[in-house]
Amino acid sequence: EHSLLGLKDLSASEIGSILDRAAYWESRSEKVIPVLKDRFVANMFFENSTRTRFSFEMAEKRLGAQVLNFAAAVSSVEKGESIYDTVRTLESMGIDAGVIRLKPVGVLAELASRISVPLVNAGDGNNEHPTQALLDLYTMKKHFGELKGLKVSIIGDIKHSRVARSNLWALQAMGAEVKLCAPESMQAPELGRYAPYVPMDEALCADVVMMLRVQLERHAEGLLKSPDQYRLQYGLTEERAAKLAPHVIIMHPAPVNRNVEIDDAVVEHPQSRIFTQMANGVPIRMAVMERALK
Ligand code: CP
Repeated sequence: EHSLLGLKDLSASEIGSILDRAAYWESRSEKVIPVLKDRFVANMFFENSTRTRFSFEMAEKRLGAQVLNFAAAVSSVEKGESIYDTVRTLESMGIDAGVIRLKPVGVLAELASRISVPLVNAGDGNNEHPTQALLDLYTMKKHFGELKGLKVSIIGDIKHSRVARSNLWALQAMGAEVKLCAPESMQAPELGRYAPYVPMDEALCADVVMMLRVQLERHAEGLLKSPDQYRLQYGLTEERAAKLAPHVIIMHPAPVNRNVEIDDAVVEHPQSRIFTQMANGVPIRMAVMERALK
């Protein structure tokens, strides 16, 4: 039984196995294949979510698991109960695995060490979002055939992005070439040791242009002074999208701030794979939950 707390320490062969297993699950046409029948999974979201929460639930139900959904806003967290006591409570009731999304960074590893069931990270602060990066890699691999040598630019609010970090670790493990692009106020200087920060024009010369959401909820007040100015300097505008080479694919983890980091008309551009990414979240999470529970 395997927890999945992040991709930083996952080997290329482990990542490759998850991607291959997701391809297997995607190839199965039956809606429900009950290999996790009689296993109980709790989806514990201490921070809001639409895609991650529902695609985990979809994946778990497609594998026949019994699913319990926990949302902090309607729980005893509102009375001051801690994350540990909440997870320990669900564990004591007999769950076999937990999917967990957390606001704070640095508590997941300790939590996992004190809980005996496998935990799957559904996003912790700005640290990691491993299943998002796995579905992103899956989307790229399906489109281009292989990840080795692929040029991927990650553009936008890198500082606050767990998606950027998980993608950076996993893409580099798989031999892709990653470049970063962000205004100075949204750079994470410590990541510059792993991938270069480049100007926007250079970032757009890639195979994959991955735009990131400006994460207003994690900003100190006033960090995004002018959404219009940000769009002009770092947004994937219609004009910039029109100049991309025809083989380039556009990605974004969503939710999107339309007309800030990506223009309204570019979200469903023919080169956009944004909704394909969401679809691919289900087989990836089937592979991850099978790995956690079998
Ligand atoms: N991409 C992503 O994690 O979206 P949600 O926050 O809606 O789950």
